[in-house]
Amino acid sequence: HTSDHQKMLEAHALLQKFYHHLLVNTKEGQEAFEYLIQRGFTRESMEKFQIGYALPSWDFTVKLFQKRGFPLPLMEKAGLIIKKESDDTYFDRFRNRIMFPIMNSKGQTIAFSGRVLDKEEQPKYLNSPETELFNKSSVLYNLHQARSFIKKQQQAILFEGFADCISADRASIYNGIATMGTALTEQHVQQIRRLTDNIIICYDSDSAGTEAAYKAGQMLVEHHFNIRIARMPDGLDPDDYIQKNSAEKFRQDVIGASMTFMAFKMQYHRIGKKLQNEGEKLKYIEIIINEISKLENAVERDHYLRQLAEEFSISMDALKQQQLQAFYANK
Ligand code: CTP
Ligand code: MN
Ligand code: MN
Ligand code: MN
Ligand code: MN
Repeated sequence: HTSDHQKMLEAHALLQKFYHHLLVNTKEGQEAFEYLIQRGFTRESMEKFQIGYALPSWDFTVKLFQKRGFPLPLMEKAGLIIKKESDDTYFDRFRNRIMFPIMNSKGQTIAFSGRVLDKEEQPKYLNSPETELFNKSSVLYNLHQARSFIKKQQQAILFEGFADCISADRASIYNGIATMGTALTEQHVQQIRRLTDNIIICYDSDSAGTEAAYKAGQMLVEHHFNIRIARMPDGLDPDDYIQKNSAEKFRQDVIGASMTFMAFKMQYHRIGKKLQNEGEKLKYIEIIINEISKLENAVERDHYLRQLAEEFSISMDALKQQQLQAFYANK
C-alpha cells in the first residue's frame, strides 16, 4: 500500500519532531541533553542530526498515535510500538533513550536508533527492526547530507558508528558516513561507488574495529576502490579521539596521516606475532610477500619489498624471487 507506506513515513517524521522537542526544550529531556553536552555534542549538531529523547513511558507514542489517527497495527509494522502477547495491547519500543533518526538517501526518517543514558542498561543501542522502510544492511548513516561533499571532494570517509559521524561533522568533516553496526555489504558499496572511488576507512581502533577495517578493506579492493586507513592510538574511536584531543588534531594526525591499505596490512599481520621468534618472523615475511605480489603497481611492489628488506635485513634479490613465486602460485 502506498498510503500505508506514506503513513509510516509520517509517523517517523512526527516522532522525530516530538523526540527532538523533548530533548532540547523540556525539563524531561534535560538529563539526556546534559549527557550529550558532557560528551561534546553541541546544540548545532543536535539540530543538524535531529537528535531527540524518548520519555521513560510505556505509552507516550501509543497515545500520540491514537490521538493523531495512526492505526496501531500499522505502527507496529513500522517498528515503533510493540504488541503485548497477553492482552493485545501495545507499548512503546523506545523508552528513556537518546534518539538518533536514521534517514534514507532522500533524507526521510525510516528508523530510529536509541542510546541508553546509563551504562548498565543493555543493549547500548536499540535499533528499529527491519521493516518495509528500513533495511539495516543497506542504510548508510548521513548519506543524504554527505552525498554532495563526497562527490565534490571525490572522497568518502567511512565510520563505524554514528557518534563518530556526528563528531567528525563538528570537526568540519562533511563527507563522513557510517554503517549501522553491521559489516559493510554489497548494497553499501554500490551506493558509495556511484559517488566516488576514493575511501578512507576510519573504524574504531579496538580489536573489533581493526578486524572490521581489514574485512571492509578487502571487500573494497575487490571493487577497485582506492583505499586508505585512518587509525587512532590506544584503541580509541574517532569520537573518543576528538573529545580527548581536538577537531584540528583529528583532521591532521588521523585523517591527514591515513595510510595505504598495504601499510595497514603490514601492521595488521604483526598483531599477536612475536617477531623475535625466527619461525613467526619467517611466517610474517611470507604473508607480506604474498600480499605484495597481489599489488598491481610495480613501483608499489618495489616500495614495500624495500621496506621488508630494510627491516629484516634480507636482500632485495631474495625477496623479489620469493615475490615472483608467490605471484605465479596465486595465478
Ligand atoms: N551498535 C548497535 N547495537 C549495539 C552496539 C552498537 O547497533 N548494541 C551499532 C551502532 O550503530 C553504533 C555502532 O554499532 O554506532 C558502533 O558501535 P560502538 O563502537 O560500540 O558504538 P559507538 O558508536 O562508539 O557509540 P558510543 O560512542 O555512543 O558508545
Ligand atoms: Mn530544533
Ligand atoms: Mn566499536
Ligand atoms: Mn565506537
Ligand atoms: Mn564511541
